[in-house]
Amino acid sequence: MIHLQKINVHFGKGTAAFRVAIDNLDLRIQEGEFLTVIGSNGAGKSTLLNTIAGEVIPDSGQIHIDDEVVTQQTTNLRAQHVARVFQDPVAGTCANLTIAENLALALRRGKNRSLNQAVGPESRSLFKELLKPLNLSLENRLDTLMAMLSGGQRQAVSLLMATSSPLKILLLDEHTAALDPKTSKFVMELTNRIVKEKGLTTLMVTHSLSQALQYGSRTIMLHEGSLIYDVAGDARAKLTPQDLMRQFGDTVDNDRLLLN
Ligand SMILES: Nc1ncnc2c1ncn2[C@@H]1O[C@H](COP(=O)(O)OP(=O)(O)OP(=O)(O)O)[C@@H](O)[C@H]1O
Ligand SMILES: [Mg+2]
Repeated sequence: MIHLQKINVHFGKGTAAFRVAIDNLDLRIQEGEFLTVIGSNGAGKSTLLNTIAGEVIPDSGQIHIDDEVVTQQTTNLRAQHVARVFQDPVAGTCANLTIAENLALALRRGKNRSLNQAVGPESRSLFKELLKPLNLSLENRLDTLMAMLSGGQRQAVSLLMATSSPLKILLLDEHTAALDPKTSKFVMELTNRIVKEKGLTTLMVTHSLSQALQYGSRTIMLHEGSLIYDVAGDARAKLTPQDLMRQFGDTVDNDRLLLN
C-alpha cells in the first residue's frame, strides 16, 4: 500500500520561478492497484512519481509504503521496492552496453557482484529465459548493443530490467509516448502481463485517454498539483475517452489529453 498524506512539493522557493507542483495531495493506493494518471502539462504527474520514487522530497506531508514511513528515505533505499520506466527509451538503459550487460546491471541491483561474473554462462541462460516471452528474438542477440535496438525493443528490455528484481511498486512515466501505435500496444500488453503476473502496485502516466481507461483499475486526474478526479470500478468501466474529454476538455490542455 502507498499512502501519500498531505503532500506539498514546491520548486524555486523565493524566486520568480516559484511553482506549486503538488498541492496538499492525499492519495491512498492499495496493494496491487494499477492507477492510470492523466492531466495537463505541468499538472504534477511526473513530480508525483518522483515523490514516490524518492527523487523529490516533499516540502511537507508524509509518504507511507506499507507500514514504513519513507518520506526522507533516499532513492537508493527506495529502489529496493520501487522501479521506473521513462518516456525516453534511452533513459532507462545504457546504450553502449549490450543487452546482456544491461540485464546484468539490472539484476545486480543491491548485490555485490562484478559485471564479469554477472554475464557468465549461468546468467546468459537466465537472460534468454527472461527475453524469450517478449517474442522479439532478443534471446539470440544478447551481445547486441542496446543502441542498435528500436525504441519498442528498448522499452520492452527496460520493462524487463525494471521488473526482474523483486519489487512492489512500478512507476511508468508516459513509457509508450515515444512509440508508434502498434509498438505502443505491444509494450502496453507486455506491461499489463508483467503487472498482473507480479501483482505490482502500479502508477502509469499517460496522455492517451483510451489507454488510461483500457488498462489498470483506477484513473486519477491531476490539475495544478491537485487531485481533481478519481474513478474506479463500475463508474470507470462505463466511461469512454469521449466522456472524459467532454468533462475535462475545457479545464485541461488538449495537447495532454488525446482520445487515442
Ligand atoms: N526540478 C524542477 N525544478 C523546478 N520546477 C520543476 C521541477 N520539476 C517540475 N517542476 C515544475 O513543477 C510543475 C509540475 O511539473 P511535472 O513535471 O510534474 O508536470 P507533468 O504533469 O509531468 O507535466 P508533463 O505532462 O508536461 O510531463 C511544473 O510547473 C514544472 O515546471
Ligand atoms: Mg511529466
